[in-house]
Amino acid sequence: MVLFTCKGGDNLLEVERTNEYLMPLADLIIGQVEVSGRKDIKIKIAGKSYALSECTISHSMSVARISGKMGEKLMYKDTSLCDIVVAGFLHDIGKLFISDKIIDKRGLLTEKEREIVKQHSKFGADFVKKHITENEDVLLGILHHHERLDGSGYPKGLKDSEISRVGKIIAVADVYDALTQERPYRNKSSKEDTIKYINAHSGSKFDTEIVSALIECMKEGL
Ligand SMILES: [Fe+2]
Repeated sequence: MVLFTCKGGDNLLEVERTNEYLMPLADLIIGQVEVSGRKDIKIKIAGKSYALSECTISHSMSVARISGKMGEKLMYKDTSLCDIVVAGFLHDIGKLFISDKIIDKRGLLTEKEREIVKQHSKFGADFVKKHITENEDVLLGILHHHERLDGSGYPKGLKDSEISRVGKIIAVADVYDALTQERPYRNKSSKEDTIKYINAHSGSKFDTEIVSALIECMKEGL
């Protein structure tokens, strides 16, 4: 099933509308804008425009796609599967409310900056609840995507049974996509090394069943 495709033509990302549940989400993206030499994608939520970097939009689409594929493996269907994809797409939307100086910083973040960044899950879930949906799977997926089974995650340091299943799915998709993509502050890791890393933390940081689903997806050419 193809949920989103990113097309590079004219550097504009287009959303292919292939699923009725995702139509409202596709409508969020309204165009492109250049901000201080950087090309940003404009999205519109509740009548207001926001600019997100191409990198953030591209990562969001990848996490939506990977989460959707894992969701299929985990036997999610129809609206529940779409909730996973929507949560995947919106998981980092809370970064809109954190200064670009911190989000785009190339060097190491200070302790104070790290604490600010850690709030993006909560900012995102609150924003989505107010303007997009009150669906609990979507909201908890966003709120929990940096929580880890052993309690080492954030914002609350929740443990295994306290973390929503959608949050656990988004967490694995997020780490997989983030590590396999080039970032200004580090080189990208190969798919194989990334799977090894995630697998090494299966059962401690990441849910075992969900890691198995990622491996299955990779075998089929993620
Ligand atoms: Fe995040």
